[in-house]
Amino acid sequence: MTKIQVQPGIMEIALYEGGQSTVEGVSDIVKLSSNENPYGAGDAAKEAYRKSGLNMHRYPSTDHADLRAAIAEVHDLKAEQIICGVGSDEVLHLIAQCFAGPGDEIIYTEHGFSMYPILVHACGATPVVVPERERVVDVDAILKACTDKTKIVFIANPGNPTGTMVGGNEVARLADGLPEGCLLVHDGAYTEFVEGFDGGAGLVDARDNVIMTRTFSKIYGLGGLRVGWGYAPKEIIDVLNRVRGPFNLSNMQLAVAEAAVRDTEFVDRCRKDNARLRAWLAEALMELGVPSDTSCANFILARFASEAEASACDAFLKKQGIIVRKVAGYGLPNCLRITVGDESGCRRVAHAVKSFKELAV
Ligand SMILES: Cc1ncc(COP(=O)(O)O)c(C=O)c1O
Repeated sequence: MTKIQVQPGIMEIALYEGGQSTVEGVSDIVKLSSNENPYGAGDAAKEAYRKSGLNMHRYPSTDHADLRAAIAEVHDLKAEQIICGVGSDEVLHLIAQCFAGPGDEIIYTEHGFSMYPILVHACGATPVVVPERERVVDVDAILKACTDKTKIVFIANPGNPTGTMVGGNEVARLADGLPEGCLLVHDGAYTEFVEGFDGGAGLVDARDNVIMTRTFSKIYGLGGLRVGWGYAPKEIIDVLNRVRGPFNLSNMQLAVAEAAVRDTEFVDRCRKDNARLRAWLAEALMELGVPSDTSCANFILARFASEAEASACDAFLKKQGIIVRKVAGYGLPNCLRITVGDESGCRRVAHAVKSFKELAV
């Protein structure tokens, strides 16, 4: 048989595990495992979806001009510095593929998003994993780990699964301290949950080594549609566009995302609701002896006394039809990541954790 040669790094990739959505034998499920919007998409997005299907015999736009113009208008950015992808995952992949390869190093942090090691191995680069400080990205540790081989640093801000943030001055210090030719990718998947935050757009405008990525999967409630985007200096966008598939986004994806980004009222409502319920849930869990760091995203990283307790609570919740995320693979074995649901979802998970704790005494 032909000996098939696989490119360097590919066989190091462990398959990405998505959040579970069913439990055998349980019908009344509340899924709090993938940081989805509990209310789904907004009405404008749903209406655009219904209409855009009529166009499916037509090839989509290759330059995404309308969607980029809408994003630029709403966020006050330059449309020619935006690239759109199949989820921000695709944009992140393009970045790794275009700017790193065998012999290069890519830095991400201890509890960084689980796609980062996949991207690094897929482009054949070497992963360099840097410690965090109490579940917060540590700028000094990253700068210390940089070498002349470092080509990219990935940080998510807010982080997933920690929910913590590093301030703008710290991120600027990181960008300024990177070696010549090294890019900082500021992954802003949860930007919209932070009141008044630009997701790193200002840093992109002020420097030539920062890329911001964003997604429609979280606050816009479009995880199943798969649309994300990136904002970077024009020269970087030009490079990424050479590798991007010309028809990577369908007519439906483009139309729905455009309607969603313009529906700022829906986004504002979801942000406020998330902040209120997140504070309520964090407080309720704290009173049950399950602390968490202040989260800036749409989930809480609940800390249990031990790995055994976190696992037992996860199993208990599943039996009740409540699916949360185990995060041992992120180096957080004693934690569970719980997406902030709607009011009833939050009450249900808090009540179930209470029952779990009462059973244990
Ligand atoms: C930090 C972070 N970045 C990027 C993504 C990718 O999102 P998507 O590909 O759905 O846009 C996620 C999804 O969970 C995330 O948590």
